[in-house]
Amino acid sequence: MTILSIETSCDETAAAVCQDRKILSSTILSQSIHTMFGGVVPEIASREHEKWLSLVVKNALSESGVSMNELDGVAVTRGPGLMGALLTGVSFAMGFSQGLSIPCIGINHIEAHIFSNFIDYPELKYPFICLLVSGGHTQIWLVNALGNYELLGETRDDAAGEAFDKGARILGLGYPGGPAIEKISRNGDEDAIAFPQAFIKKEGIEFSFSGLKTSLLNYVSKQGKERVNSRISDIAASYQKAIINVLISKLKQAIDLTGVKISVIAGGVAANKRLREFAKKELSNFHILFPDLSLCTDNAAMIAFLAEEYLRENTASPIYLDAVPNLRLVG
Ligand code: KG4
Ligand code: ZN
Repeated sequence: MTILSIETSCDETAAAVCQDRKILSSTILSQSIHTMFGGVVPEIASREHEKWLSLVVKNALSESGVSMNELDGVAVTRGPGLMGALLTGVSFAMGFSQGLSIPCIGINHIEAHIFSNFIDYPELKYPFICLLVSGGHTQIWLVNALGNYELLGETRDDAAGEAFDKGARILGLGYPGGPAIEKISRNGDEDAIAFPQAFIKKEGIEFSFSGLKTSLLNYVSKQGKERVNSRISDIAASYQKAIINVLISKLKQAIDLTGVKISVIAGGVAANKRLREFAKKELSNFHILFPDLSLCTDNAAMIAFLAEEYLRENTASPIYLDAVPNLRLVG
């Protein structure tokens, strides 16, 4: 089975080809234009997708060595994401699939992040727990089977990726914030400043990162620019630690609560190396998997892979120009 996929939910224009559960090609064009605005500008994101999508698809097809008439389906992210950005990909995929008379399969972006783990770990068995940490979501899922998920807990306000992005903006480190904070933290003392770690001692799986961001803002305005710049690595490292500590402690709670021994981490924040080190150390008695860094941040390989799973089960959801910005994943 051969699937071409398209991902345009935010600021990555991506296409991939998956054949019999193997990724043959994966092209990702990150829209660097947003850096100058310090965050994603939705209207610009849609226009950039419009501009580059054909080229990205062409590249993915040519790198895969697959011709258009070998395709069994076209998969596309239908949500969650930015409305205009999603519509660009959905319209393209609809037109492309209709031209070839093959199905167009709508995929939930969050579900695809979870399933990206199967690309690197085909032997992964249900049930498993997934800590999903991206720019828009911080959730812990119990994954029982394809299409059978239980939400164990999520954030009340900001997502972990958002906390990285907002923190980086406060510190003047640029966008996207996660990689910038990770980089500068390498030379810092993560125990230098005790930033708040919401709910860490509380039983129950829920997160809150908005207080952390406010605490950083207060710290920065009290200390002043010069002092902040002189110890920016310590501040960033301490801020990063506050996020990571909570994530891993709640993952541990989820493992204890369910008794499920296998865990995976997914989404952009899962690319953070300190998070990986910390998880390996704190959860050394459990089986924990991390997908390759290229599969953590947004990509189309995970979209194609999940679509193939659904097509194999004959339960793919065909779409009719249906982009859903606040699409929820339910079991
Ligand atoms: O999954 P993703 O690419 O897009 C969404 O679905 O949101 O996640 C993007 C988020 C951004 O907030 C970005 O700052 C964060 O993931 N991120 C990181 C790292 N790389 C990306 N956060 C921490 N450390 C990283 N290395
Ligand atoms: Zn994502």
